[in-house]
Amino acid sequence: MPNYRIAPSILSADFARLGEEVRNVVTAGADIIHFDVMDNHYVPNLTIGPLVCEAIRPHVQVPIDVHLMVKPVDRIIPDFAKAGANIITFHPEASEHIDRTLQLIRDNGCKAGLVFNPATPLNHLEHVMDKLDIILMMSVNPGFGGQSFIPHTLKKIAAVRKMIDESGRDIMLEVDGGIKIDNIAAAAAAGADTFVAGSAIFGKPDYKAVIDAMRSELAKV
Ligand code: DX5
Ligand code: ZN
Repeated sequence: MPNYRIAPSILSADFARLGEEVRNVVTAGADIIHFDVMDNHYVPNLTIGPLVCEAIRPHVQVPIDVHLMVKPVDRIIPDFAKAGANIITFHPEASEHIDRTLQLIRDNGCKAGLVFNPATPLNHLEHVMDKLDIILMMSVNPGFGGQSFIPHTLKKIAAVRKMIDESGRDIMLEVDGGIKIDNIAAAAAAGADTFVAGSAIFGKPDYKAVIDAMRSELAKV
């Protein structure tokens, strides 16, 4: 069985109690904290920046996975690295120079990755596999929590799984958007190993019950 990781998205957490929320979700079994950054430009929503990353950093030991839905990308990367981010991903269409942005993330001491929307072509991957630590596949269009999983993205996840395996590289394959207890196994079967879930976890009273149920679904794959 692959090393599956659950990455709750704090987009659906109670922002008035964010420190407590991240501590609780890690106690409940989260492997990673997924941190959604939206700029009201690349996506039509506005969320949180490096100051909030810095504020939650002392509350948890697990990696903080910063998903940048911003354009331009480069200026903000060192700020997130200083704020304690461990993983930084961005959308290729939001950067003028993808190779440079990936290198910039690694130069700042973080794991680097590209994010693919449901309709973003995969050819962006062709020349940068050696610069990737993670690939994030969107299973909704970015911008909001609580949307429904788009089933045709499973085929795309499977295509990326094949590319990673053929490359022989150690690259995480993360899926983000509409992941619930009842579809996490399908995403894993397609080849994902890291699962972002916002409303499925923070929308529920018992985080551990949801994470445990997700893990038992994964154990059946
Ligand atoms: C969407 C974000 C997701 C989102 C996931 O743009 O990237 O991380 O918060 O939320 P759910 O799990 O509710 O779809
Ligand atoms: Zn996200």
